[in-house]
Amino acid sequence: MGYDFDRLVPKQGSASVKWSKAVMEEINGRGDLLPLWVADMDFDCAGPIKEALAEVASSGTFGYSCRTGEYMEATSGWFSIRHGWDVDKDWLVFSPGVVAGINAIIQQFTRPGDKIILQSPVYHPFFGLVNGNGRIVSDNRLLELGGGDYAMDFEDLERRASDPKAKLLLLCSPHNPVGKVWSRAELERLGDICLANGVLVVADEIHCDLVFRERRHVPFASIKESFAMGSITCTAISKTFNLAGLQISNLIAVNGKLRERLKERLETCGISEPNPFGLAAAVAAYTEGGGWLDEALSYMEKNRDLMADFLGREIPEITYRRPDGTYLAWLDFRSMGLGDAGLRGMLVDDARLALNQGYIFGESGSGFARLNFACPRFILEKALENIRGAVARRR
Ligand SMILES: Cc1ncc(COP(=O)(O)O)c(C=O)c1O
Repeated sequence: MGYDFDRLVPKQGSASVKWSKAVMEEINGRGDLLPLWVADMDFDCAGPIKEALAEVASSGTFGYSCRTGEYMEATSGWFSIRHGWDVDKDWLVFSPGVVAGINAIIQQFTRPGDKIILQSPVYHPFFGLVNGNGRIVSDNRLLELGGGDYAMDFEDLERRASDPKAKLLLLCSPHNPVGKVWSRAELERLGDICLANGVLVVADEIHCDLVFRERRHVPFASIKESFAMGSITCTAISKTFNLAGLQISNLIAVNGKLRERLKERLETCGISEPNPFGLAAAVAAYTEGGGWLDEALSYMEKNRDLMADFLGREIPEITYRRPDGTYLAWLDFRSMGLGDAGLRGMLVDDARLALNQGYIFGESGSGFARLNFACPRFILEKALENIRGAVARRR
């Protein structure tokens, strides 16, 4: 099709959180920063999605909306074609977002004081979801293998899952921020441990479509029947097609009892109905967006590899492993010994970049920063140049 991923869609002055000077100022103390933080892409959206949204806008029909047969077909078709997972339409449960969905799951399937297992460093809102609901984080930290690589710590997981207070595990697959696409064997071992201990697995697979060529995402619930029955999967068009603002996501609950209880909670919270724009975008994305996604992935893969070449050559102080999936680079600055405040000072006041500070992903993220490379190459090159200069001034 030939989309132009080198073109920056102007977002300054829009409602984009990523590009908002006011938001960056609030977080970083200054707004004059190049933003490579929030997990949005800076690319133009796929043509068929924009057309579908324009059609809704011109229809003038913006009332309460329900999921159409077309939407259910498109969603289930996507998982079958892209992931070889036959998702029955009945398993699909609507939530406006994955975070809202996980919040409902935590409230419905655990009680205050229960423990929820996370694998840090991990997507930072997970901590708020657990703590904010009066549950307790049980941190099954990922093991560092060196060279920026990570693995799950299964011995520690056995101990944590066997604690009678542990009721749920939040799996991040592919993993944000470390970029791991977990193998079938790893997922199987995790699932066997959780199921043997009655721990519900909530598989946040929002990054499942953002996997580079050499790897393949394995949906947790597709591995075996017992995993399907003992888990709830969370997915969305939001990361895949850069549509987070449209507030539509899919919770996939194979187990009918879990599904009905989940629906009850979403209804109680008043978040069980989609909006017409999200619905139309999802149908267009899942039926006509595959070509755009393939082109976006190959562009992002080049950005990912460019980073590895640049950092290896110019900034050996930073350890970076090419992520298998996600468009997030997890940069280890610990060899510079700056501490979190020093690292922040270097990145914000010197390099003039808005990145995500690593410590927000858990204590084990201290000394790291997360950089979003889903941007036109010239933006990435500018950001890397700025980091190079700032590091050089500290040698
Ligand atoms: C692992 C993970 N889960 C959930 C979300 C957010 O999902 P939503 O916007 O649908 O709440 C993100 C966004 O970056 C994410 O990385």
